Amino acid sequence: MSEIKRQNEKALLKAFQVDLLSIQSILDFKNSLQLWLQDSKMHPSVQLLINNAGILATSSRLTSEGYDQMMATNYVGPFFLTQMLLPLLKNSPFPSRIVNVSSFTHRCVFDVHVDEDTVCGKGFWGLDQYPCSSIYQYSKLCLLLFSYELHRKLSLDKESHKLTVNVADPGVVKTNIMREVPTYLSRVAFTILRLLRLLQLPKDGVNSILDAALASPETSGVYFFGGKGRRVGSSAQSNDAKLAEELWETSSNLFVKSQISVEGGTSS
Ligand SMILES: NC(=O)c1ccc[n+]([C@@H]2O[C@H](COP(=O)([O-])OP(=O)(O)OC[C@H]3O[C@@H](n4cnc5c(N)ncnc54)[C@H](OP(=O)(O)O)[C@@H]3O)[C@@H](O)[C@H]2O)c1
Repeated sequence: MSEIKRQNEKALLKAFQVDLLSIQSILDFKNSLQLWLQDSKMHPSVQLLINNAGILATSSRLTSEGYDQMMATNYVGPFFLTQMLLPLLKNSPFPSRIVNVSSFTHRCVFDVHVDEDTVCGKGFWGLDQYPCSSIYQYSKLCLLLFSYELHRKLSLDKESHKLTVNVADPGVVKTNIMREVPTYLSRVAFTILRLLRLLQLPKDGVNSILDAALASPETSGVYFFGGKGRRVGSSAQSNDAKLAEELWETSSNLFVKSQISVEGGTSS
């Protein structure tokens, strides 16, 4: 924020915190944002939403609303946040954009189920070891299916012709994503990736996200990979429109249930 202020002293800035593990926190964030826009006499709209947050959890942990924490952070929370911000995004007088940050690892998922238990993440539990990689890959596939389904819905919705949704996949980046992995393992992994010349620094890893965020207003439903404007195809599963529709329905039902539980103060 201070760097933006340094470059443009007239910029109106405010940071908000949101915890994607909690629907209450997402709702509070949306309300605070609306209030701030109103108090600052700004147009009641949002021009850019980047769903970047994500974790690689190594142990099974539940949110207070009963979701696996990795599914909640990587898919369910971004789905809920996007749904809550859609009216503000659609209200923008300028072309507005959603960018969902996915991962090439979505290609490792083959047998896909989109029932409530699986989307909540609990469907993966019950094995001796927490299936960390499988849940991460599945959460990133869900984010892709959701992105393409939203793109299809928006292109049929005449009122939201100015809102687009794209996917960004940074490739491999040296960040804190492996914070839960034992240090010796993450060091070995990063060393191998560096020797293979696959490892990027965050300043380069961000490029695919910038490509998606700054794409032309006509660009929608596109998968940006690795920067330099590169677009690639995602997996066959991620392009399965029927599967995407089923996932949308499951996620929407979960959204309604979570909203009811928050309104009734009965989160369990
Ligand atoms: N690094 C890679 O090689 C790679 C490759 C492909 C895709 N990605 C994706 O890139 C995205 C960014 O990850 P990264 O690599 O930059 O990892 P990172 O350094 O660990 O950053 C993750 C970010 O997510 C935030 N976050 C975690 N849990 C959250 C929650 N419950 N609510 C709100 N925010 C939360 C973190 O905030 P705090 O720091 O405050 O916890 C942090 O800012 C993720 O979606 C990841 O899956 C990364």
